[in-house]
Amino acid sequence: MRHFLDTADLSRKELGRVLELATQRQEALGWPLADYGVALIFEKPSNRTRQSMEMAVVQLGGHPIFTRGEEVGFDVRESVEDITRIMAGYHAMIAARVIDHGVLERMASLDEVPIINMLSDKSHPLQSVADVLTMREELGSLSGLTVTWIGDYNNVARSLAEACALEGMHLRLGCPDGYGADGEELSRIASLGAASVEQLDSAEAAAEGAHAVHTDVFVSMGQEADTERRLRDFAAFQVDENVMAAADQNAIFMHCLPAHRGVEVAADVIDGPASRVVRQAHNRMHAARGVLAFLCEENDITKGDTK
Ligand code: CP
Repeated sequence: MRHFLDTADLSRKELGRVLELATQRQEALGWPLADYGVALIFEKPSNRTRQSMEMAVVQLGGHPIFTRGEEVGFDVRESVEDITRIMAGYHAMIAARVIDHGVLERMASLDEVPIINMLSDKSHPLQSVADVLTMREELGSLSGLTVTWIGDYNNVARSLAEACALEGMHLRLGCPDGYGADGEELSRIASLGAASVEQLDSAEAAAEGAHAVHTDVFVSMGQEADTERRLRDFAAFQVDENVMAAADQNAIFMHCLPAHRGVEVAADVIDGPASRVVRQAHNRMHAARGVLAFLCEENDITKGDTK
């Protein structure tokens, strides 16, 4: 059974297929989820992921059911395994935003229904599909182009790095000392097909000649107690006009959102002509539809099947 826990679960060719499905019109996709439910479980808040996944399920003919984490209570009300086996009787797929990636791995190991990662402490693969979809729309073929990530090598960065490597891009990470990827991780990303992988401790140096510059909040959900130290450590890593000036003259700016103007990005950049953040957020829905349609294809889920 095919699941989608990480971007690198896909081969380069399969990511291409997901992106192709993401751009197909409804007539071509049909209604593979007709008469099916898809469970969407959130242990953390969400705007984009919830809205885009709900609409993507509807666009494929299915019925999304949103459930808050405390309602299912992973390993509190019931074991992860019991929850998964029970919900698999109601739904064609289960998607979850979890605090601990290990919960997704336990769900997937049962092979009851396809499991989709809607963000974990490790990765955010749905975001990365929308990111490469947006870059392809804006920049054309991505192979050989340079993408820069500035900030923490966090869950969003890891998935973006995997997707960009599968696309054959040059990857540059601009991270403060102690917040980057380790050598093993850099080698793993390179082995996925990146044209090159570099990590630098300067935002301007990382952005030099880049075709797309990405960042994320400096304090993610769950890191609030560490806010003061993190903001001090990241002070020189704001994406501002100097950073964008170091990039290619037609470079685009991207951010998974929500954003904090004046912290990780200057207002002039995120609200300026290089910014593609709104299109990127809208593409979350098309990317989600591509992933769902791909999992239907791979797992032989078609309209009218009975479980
Ligand atoms: N980028 C993203 O995942 O947004 P939400 O947290 O609002 O879903």
